Amino acid sequence: MATIISHSAADTLQFGRQLAATLKPGDVLALSGDLGAGKTCLVKGIAAGLGITQAVTSPTFTLIHEYPPLAHVDLYRLDSAAGIGLEDYLDAPWITVIEWADRCAALLPAHTKHIRLTVVDDTTRQIEVE
Ligand SMILES: Nc1ncnc2c1ncn2[C@@H]1O[C@H](COP(=O)(O)OP(=O)(O)O)[C@@H](O)[C@H]1O
Ligand SMILES: [Mg+2]
Repeated sequence: MATIISHSAADTLQFGRQLAATLKPGDVLALSGDLGAGKTCLVKGIAAGLGITQAVTSPTFTLIHEYPPLAHVDLYRLDSAAGIGLEDYLDAPWITVIEWADRCAALLPAHTKHIRLTVVDDTTRQIEVE
């Protein structure tokens, strides 16, 4: 377990860029943390680090956004991820990053990396990487 303290959104973006360098197709990142904890910010950094130039947004009605090789999943609107086809991503060579991943815990493969973001204060976030 590694714990990082981020002092700004830019810090979290930068951490995402660094994290991206360690990722390979088939990897699954399970992000947890409250609304505003910086999950989407981290995904933006990961996308940038993977060389993705499309703007990563918070999926609203779309649960899964594809930015090959990144699949960005946001389960905020769901109580359970059953029936949304998440397995199709987890079993394929995507780098799948899931916000509110506690809502699909039963579907996650054993090799999933868990990352918890916690709000410390307005600009400070604790990021725990399993
Ligand atoms: N250290 C930090 N890391 C990430 N976001 C931060 C930080 N400090 C402040 N913020 C702000 O917190 C918000 C995080 O939003 P977002 O990434 O959408 O969170 P989530 O997806 O977890 O709901 C943004 O408005 C961002 O500017
Ligand atoms: Mg989000």
